[in-house]
Amino acid sequence: MLEHARRRTAEEHISYLLADAATYDFGEAAFDVCISRFGVMFFADPVGAFGNLRRALRPRGRLVAMVWQPRAENEWAQVIPATIARTTESDRADGVFRDESPFVFGDPEVTRGILMSAGFGEVTFAEVRERLYYGPDVETAYENVLQLREPLALLAELTPADADRARADLRAMLAAHDSGDGVLFDSAAWIVTAS
Ligand SMILES: C[S@@+](CC[C@H](N)C(=O)[O-])C[C@H]1O[C@@H](n2cnc3c(N)ncnc32)[C@H](O)[C@@H]1O
Repeated sequence: MLEHARRRTAEEHISYLLADAATYDFGEAAFDVCISRFGVMFFADPVGAFGNLRRALRPRGRLVAMVWQPRAENEWAQVIPATIARTTESDRADGVFRDESPFVFGDPEVTRGILMSAGFGEVTFAEVRERLYYGPDVETAYENVLQLREPLALLAELTPADADRARADLRAMLAAHDSGDGVLFDSAAWIVTAS
């Protein structure tokens, strides 16, 4: 992916780096802005990781990160796993949603607390509610869903017969979300800005 990106932007002043953003030494006060789209929710030590990013920012520099609102606000994050889990006998409240890491910054107060602990000052939240696009048609959307961690993990737990049923249910559910202009789900995110 990095090679591909380098080729596509060879004429521009852009450089690429493969690194753990939580710990990599980006230099002290070296950047004006740090931008992430759905990439900051997986740090094992969020305060340490945001502290590392803050050190790389100049005074009055900005961190701008897009993060999901809570799962309950995100139709895609409820309907897809629920469709898979429904096909098993043990339709379990305990087991369907196990990995909440994508949604850890859904609560603005929690997020603000983490960023302040990491040394940021003002923290603001801009709400983004958009239709989330899974693909131009059901088949593409189905293939895209089967690239995602949570659906794959849920499917892997099923017996072969249950997994077959779950895949058929997934296709039917995606067809119900086919708007004619793409397969769409409601979604809700925050654009968090911290200076
Ligand atoms: C949900 S994907 C979002 C990808 C892309 N930004 C987008 O919006 O389509 C999360 C990305 O964050 C990256 N990521 C997670 N933790 C990271 C870390 N500690 N350092 C660098 N990248 C990280 C993952 O490798 C993955 O590519």
